[in-house]
Amino acid sequence: AAVEKGNFRHFMQKEIYDQPTVVAQTLQSYVRRDDESVALPQIDFDLSSIKRVTIVACGTSYYAGLVAKYWFEHFARLPVDIDVASEFRYRDPVLEPGGLAIFISQSGETADTLAALRHCKANGQTIAVVVNVPTSSMAREADLLLPTHAGPEIGVASTKAFTCQLAVLAALAAHLAVKRGRMTRDEERKVVRNLIETPSALNAALAYDDAIAAMAHLIAPARDVLYLGRGQDYPLALEGALKLKEISYIHAEGYASGEMKHGPIALIDEHVPVIVIAPSGPLFEKTVSNMQEVRARGGKIVLISDAEGLAEAGEGCMATIEMPQVHPLIAPLVYAVPVQLLAYHVACVKGTDVDQPRNLAKSVTVE
Ligand code: G6P
Repeated sequence: AAVEKGNFRHFMQKEIYDQPTVVAQTLQSYVRRDDESVALPQIDFDLSSIKRVTIVACGTSYYAGLVAKYWFEHFARLPVDIDVASEFRYRDPVLEPGGLAIFISQSGETADTLAALRHCKANGQTIAVVVNVPTSSMAREADLLLPTHAGPEIGVASTKAFTCQLAVLAALAAHLAVKRGRMTRDEERKVVRNLIETPSALNAALAYDDAIAAMAHLIAPARDVLYLGRGQDYPLALEGALKLKEISYIHAEGYASGEMKHGPIALIDEHVPVIVIAPSGPLFEKTVSNMQEVRARGGKIVLISDAEGLAEAGEGCMATIEMPQVHPLIAPLVYAVPVQLLAYHVACVKGTDVDQPRNLAKSVTVE
């Protein structure tokens, strides 16, 4: 049956709203509620023996991989190499025996990602695939198939596939951490409880829709927009900028907060909105000083943070968006929502073709 928009104006809007449901649906295959443990599909090799992880993907799926890099390193203490597929396949990467190569794709058909998968397979890597289309080429060629259950995604700009990818990767990070003796049973329980709470945190994030729609009018006239994030929120800055340019055609750049002074700070004036993605935590102070640098140059800040972060740094911002206080393993899923909604509403203000943006394809099956 054809997928319908129902009461939504666009597929993208519907898919943003689908997220609490499809993330819950996806997590059902990855966590066990009874004993609060992470449960991965059965596989016939020993994940504890993995020495190195390689992650390859394109577009939004690549940014999900970039978040996972922070998780695999921090929680599982695994070294991670990550690249976009079109670079990876031609750069002669060093692939040692015992490596796990993870490919992330909504469609499972992106030409460069598929070619990179075959290259890794030919070079002795174990192939894990995080994919939304179970009948796709990548799904068929996987040693370890990690499906996302986002359902068909129609909007060209990926939304629900991204958060489902993050849900699977969070469970995988916890699983690898347990297998490698880096995560205690107690911590595993805590992670699982947090994952189970993700859908309600996503709903809390969606509750800001009207406020974000109102603030879209402040962003829509801009020629350039800068997104800043640190650590595992840096990939979200990249994703936010990608979403905005894809569907609103406003030039946007995602930058690591600390790298701003090495370039983009030269662009900042009162015409450049700066979207700061910064949950409270050990890196928050650093980001606050980056915000001061922006403000000193007349830059207008939209701060996306939690109550604690907003109490500390919300004053003087052009706008703020309050997210629930969440575990670092689910924060990127939750913070993805305001980032998607902001791009969506800016595109609506500009009157672009949200579901079919110019020059873009849902699945890039040519090189
Ligand atoms: C295209 C789509 C993006 C998507 C990317 C990767 O550029 O427009 O939304 O993130 O391809 O696609 P994949 O199916 O491999 O995730």
